Amino acid sequence: MTHAPTRFPDGFLWGASTAAHQIEGNNTTSDWWRKEHSGTSHIQEPSLDAADSYHRWPEDMDLLAELGFTDYRFSIEWARIEPARGHFSHAEIAHYRRMVEGARARGLRPMVTLHHFTVPQWFEDLGGWTADEAVDLFTRYVEATAPVIAEGVDHVCTINEPNMIAVMAGAAKAGDIGFPPAGLPTPDEDTTRAIIAVHHAASKAVKAVNPDIQVGWTIANQVYQALPGAEGVTAAYRHPREDVFIEAARGDDWIGVQSYTRTRIGPDGPIPAPEDVERTLTSWEYYPAAVGHALRHTADVVGDVPLIVTENGIATDDDDRRIAYTKGALEEVEAALRDGLDIRGYLHWSALDNYEWGSFAPTFGLISYDPVTFERTAKPSAVWLGGLGRTRELPTGE
Ligand code: BGC
Repeated sequence: MTHAPTRFPDGFLWGASTAAHQIEGNNTTSDWWRKEHSGTSHIQEPSLDAADSYHRWPEDMDLLAELGFTDYRFSIEWARIEPARGHFSHAEIAHYRRMVEGARARGLRPMVTLHHFTVPQWFEDLGGWTADEAVDLFTRYVEATAPVIAEGVDHVCTINEPNMIAVMAGAAKAGDIGFPPAGLPTPDEDTTRAIIAVHHAASKAVKAVNPDIQVGWTIANQVYQALPGAEGVTAAYRHPREDVFIEAARGDDWIGVQSYTRTRIGPDGPIPAPEDVERTLTSWEYYPAAVGHALRHTADVVGDVPLIVTENGIATDDDDRRIAYTKGALEEVEAALRDGLDIRGYLHWSALDNYEWGSFAPTFGLISYDPVTFERTAKPSAVWLGGLGRTRELPTGE
């Protein structure tokens, strides 16, 4: 059956996302940099120069704007802004302010993430999120970012994927057991409580800078699907890993939905995808429908809070599969819009190939770069996806 193509609702965000540590390079005062050089077995290679976007952000923004995107989500780096406790770098604050102004000058609306997985080494040494002073210290950092966000920034994300932060803390407490073959480690409850408190305090601090800024946070959605009879097990498994963080967004201005694949759950818990399914470079099942499920589940839990797809994409070296995956995902977004979900935007992960937390091998980017000259090349998927931003029409689902 065919139907008329759906146009984006007015003001729909159409963009791509990145995170500072994954593209900037030389984030030397962050906890991750230290981890990368500590010989920990989970880390295959260090981030080093990454995509050198710390210097080359103007080229990245030029490309995104030329391709047809209207929005760019990037994170600012606490470890650079406050490299030593209480020492705020005017130069780094000015650097990120230039990025906000640079985005605006190119017609890109910046969505600024305040925290995307990396913290200053001194904060980790204090005990990180569960330290007594965590809320105050993060709030003070948010206040220090006022010159960056006060003008020209419509959307601020306080914390990216707090649920993954709690899961990683849980895995670390259990002796860094790594990830199970399916599903996620048990989140650390103290971290969950602490990070929710940080989000609420940080949201207030952002509003104090400028009450018009739309504040939210972005949740990793694993699309837990119950096999027959496993509905109760699935709900119990999902709650601490996902729903508790979605519930904490009730009352926020928006919530970010981030999804890539699904996890099926049987009576005994998560079950690995069958051997014969198509897998991506992160070994996740190729499942473009994920974003539709994630949007609908998030709406069910959060209630009346606008949704933004802040990450969705695929690690592949076959750009045709990236286009196919993304087309499938957009059809899901369109169907959800037609069903009346309040979806305000779609930001693809990721603008650039980047450092995938331990390795450069899983390439998620719409844009590739040369690791020596850092010259950027837009992939066909970038041209296609950016082009949809020009026509303002979603694919039809035919
Ligand atoms: C994160 C990104 C990451 C992506 C793909 C999300 O969990 O926010 O930093 O690169 O998914 O794994």
